[in-house]
Amino acid sequence: MKKITKAIIPAAGLGTRVLPASKSVPKEMLNIVDKPAIQYIVEEAAAAGITDILIITNRGKGVMEDHFDHSYELEDKLSKNPSKKDLYDSVLECSNICNVYFVRQKETKGLGHAIMCAKSFIGDEPFAILYGDDVIDGYGQPVMKQLIDVYENTGKSVVGVQEVTREAVKKYCTLDITPHEDNPKVMDVHQIIEKPTEEQIMSCFAILGRVVAQPQVFDYLAEDLANTPEGEELYFTDTLARLGKEGKLVALDFDGNRFDMGNKLGIMKANCEMALKHGEIGEDFKAYIKDLASKI
Ligand code: UTP
Repeated sequence: MKKITKAIIPAAGLGTRVLPASKSVPKEMLNIVDKPAIQYIVEEAAAAGITDILIITNRGKGVMEDHFDHSYELEDKLSKNPSKKDLYDSVLECSNICNVYFVRQKETKGLGHAIMCAKSFIGDEPFAILYGDDVIDGYGQPVMKQLIDVYENTGKSVVGVQEVTREAVKKYCTLDITPHEDNPKVMDVHQIIEKPTEEQIMSCFAILGRVVAQPQVFDYLAEDLANTPEGEELYFTDTLARLGKEGKLVALDFDGNRFDMGNKLGIMKANCEMALKHGEIGEDFKAYIKDLASKI
């Protein structure tokens, strides 16, 4: 079995749910305490053993390329001041996490279409997909590593899932699943329905931003694209649903706290929880939150 060393991060969406913040700053670059969301995602991938990442961007998202590149003027200035050593290290770290490449999705035609832009980068290898607006704080182990372990044990494509409320599942997707007897957190996926109605809900497990896929998905996506009416988006869920029907997909109920940076409440929760855990400001922020809570 080939080891997974490549990942893609689709980050070319329009981010309409967080406008006007995302008008000129991509939502993937929105801040969580002191780092942009996408840096947490790149760090998670690297911690899972990924060495090469392709970020799918589009017009106006060049700021992401700058973030993972060297900033020589800044580095030079900080390196000359010993009291700024920590800042110097943090700036240098951005360009050293792993190999980061970029390609543009020339038209915003949906997540499936964004993933297709990575075909030649991936070649004939299994690979990881980390959605650019889903930051996941893994409990103990990076969530992508949890998925890769399941891929290595089952040989099948893997989707990261968690149970959400019935209201939330209607906004994501619903899965028909059978838990494995030896490990109920791993489940065979039989069917997936995108944005189900109340009657269509099969379970409250929804796919939340992490996938391990075989290169075969590019053939499926190409076929699905050919059947997609002009002007409509290519949904990745349809491709995953097909893998499920063919018995080639498992779901992992991962251990981790997921923040949806694609909506306003998700952004606030991410900042609040990460600030409470932050080495420099955590204690002060906790005191502030306690004081604030006593006044509400
Ligand atoms: P979303 O559907 O949540 O992102 O896609 P969006 O389209 O930006 O959201 P809204 O509805 O307008 O607020 C999940 C991930 O896939 C990327 C997004 O950038 C996000 O990280 N994506 C989506 C693409 O790369 N290309 C697309 O055409 C669509």
